[in-house]
Amino acid sequence: MACASTINLVSWVFSFFVAAAMVCIIFFLTRKKSCSKNKKELPPGEMGIPWIGETIQFFKAQRKNRLFEDFFQPRITKHGKIFKTSLFGSSTVVMNGAEANRFVLSNEFKLVISSWPSSSVQLMGKDCIMQKQGEQHRCLRGLISTTLSHSAGMEALVPKICNSVQLHLDRYWRGQDRLHLYRLTKILTFTIVFECLLGIKVEAGMLERFERVLEGVFAPAISFPGSRFSRAKKARMGIQKMLVKVVREKRMEMEGGQDSDHHDHHHHHHQEGMLLSQLVAGMICGDITEEEVIDNVVLLVFAAHDTTSFAIAMTFKLLAQYPNSHSLLLQEHAEIMREKKSGEVLRMEDIKKMKYTWQVARESMRLFPPIFGSFRKAVADIEYDGFTIPKGWKVLWTAYGTHYNEEYFKDPLSFNPSRFEEHIPPYAFLPFGGGPRVCAGYQLAKLNILVFVHFVVTRYDWSLLCPDESITMDPLPFPSQGMPIKISPKL
Ligand code: HEM
Repeated sequence: MACASTINLVSWVFSFFVAAAMVCIIFFLTRKKSCSKNKKELPPGEMGIPWIGETIQFFKAQRKNRLFEDFFQPRITKHGKIFKTSLFGSSTVVMNGAEANRFVLSNEFKLVISSWPSSSVQLMGKDCIMQKQGEQHRCLRGLISTTLSHSAGMEALVPKICNSVQLHLDRYWRGQDRLHLYRLTKILTFTIVFECLLGIKVEAGMLERFERVLEGVFAPAISFPGSRFSRAKKARMGIQKMLVKVVREKRMEMEGGQDSDHHDHHHHHHQEGMLLSQLVAGMICGDITEEEVIDNVVLLVFAAHDTTSFAIAMTFKLLAQYPNSHSLLLQEHAEIMREKKSGEVLRMEDIKKMKYTWQVARESMRLFPPIFGSFRKAVADIEYDGFTIPKGWKVLWTAYGTHYNEEYFKDPLSFNPSRFEEHIPPYAFLPFGGGPRVCAGYQLAKLNILVFVHFVVTRYDWSLLCPDESITMDPLPFPSQGMPIKISPKL
């Protein structure tokens, strides 16, 4: 892994230097002009060397999972919560604090729009929801959240998720005494998205293909043979081919059944793969295209599986470190079990009783956010806090700026799940983002985490085999050894 990230870094640096010469010339030619034009004040901060900016410092910190300690914190201390820098070839303003988060996130589509590197756009697809703005975003978001936040839809998902988790434990945990928790939960969360949400059977090699694509998402978009980006593109083409077939079959199946209930496109909630049905229904109505269906299926898989599996892994890591929390959590699940007959399935009302477990999970995401923040682009000159952010600059909101700040969380570096019993100021706790682009899969992520924790802690005793395991980011965070644990079945 370390080797792969080094190659990634080297190819970035390579592409920077190729472009640097050109940019230097443009930089010096246009310098005079832009200086005289910019009367209003830019935020403080350093732009680093031309083109490369502070990208290398950023990558170094990211690789050690010390983005906050080594990159953001020192700059906040030096310049304040709003500072400028230059990352991946773009002038960027980093915004920290609840008020700044509110400003950035709630001005989506008005002052800022989401902004992804060219590799991400090419690999996720130009038609996925992350790339859509305004009305088109609203339309897609509507189709996706009909199933993802509909309470009847969620209720129907509970037994399916329980079933997937139980099958997973039977297949990968039963009879073992050691396993890699993170590696296995990735298989689980991947399977849950495909089978519970999309109704597509997971076949051998599919997860690997998606991982190959993810590896290219933040790599430079250079297509020389063997580059991360080329490999990712090839994997994406394979996925495309598989999904075109699935989507066309689904369409035929739905149109075939149309005669009997042709006004019923939007009522497939209780079937397998309701989200795919919803998207294909939108396609039959002519609201969205086939490309849009496919790009969004791909996006949903990415959005869902690495994030959820990291959240699960960190929940277990912290439970191992804090035995008192672990026993409180065990009590909660013992209580739920006590009221169930043996073999009786979990229902939404049981999930609602997992209050402390959800506090533990949220506290884990506060300390280890699966997504630390995300980039936007200013679509107009923005005035904020006495500074100007020029049109075209990138804006980066971060969860770090609030999650580790004692203004919002008392004793911020300590693990204290019950802090969630008290009021959390708005836009201070942001593992799921906020505003019009707040995570569309929040409910599913919550169900997935709670159901998994329930079945593991009620069936197994477990302990970390590598308590000091480090966390790496590439591009998302993960435990560097895949989180080896020792398990034994409870009697
Ligand atoms: C613990 C798990 C998860 C975390 C921490 C997480 C986090 C996030 C964050 C921070 C955003 C906002 C990104 C931005 O503002 O640029 C986001 C967006 C999104 N998430 Fe999640 N997510 C999780 C699970 C899921 C799941 C399970 C799904 C779907 C099944 C999902 C689907 C989405 C979608 C579709 C968006 C884009 C929304 C839009 O652009 O309107 N996420 N997520």
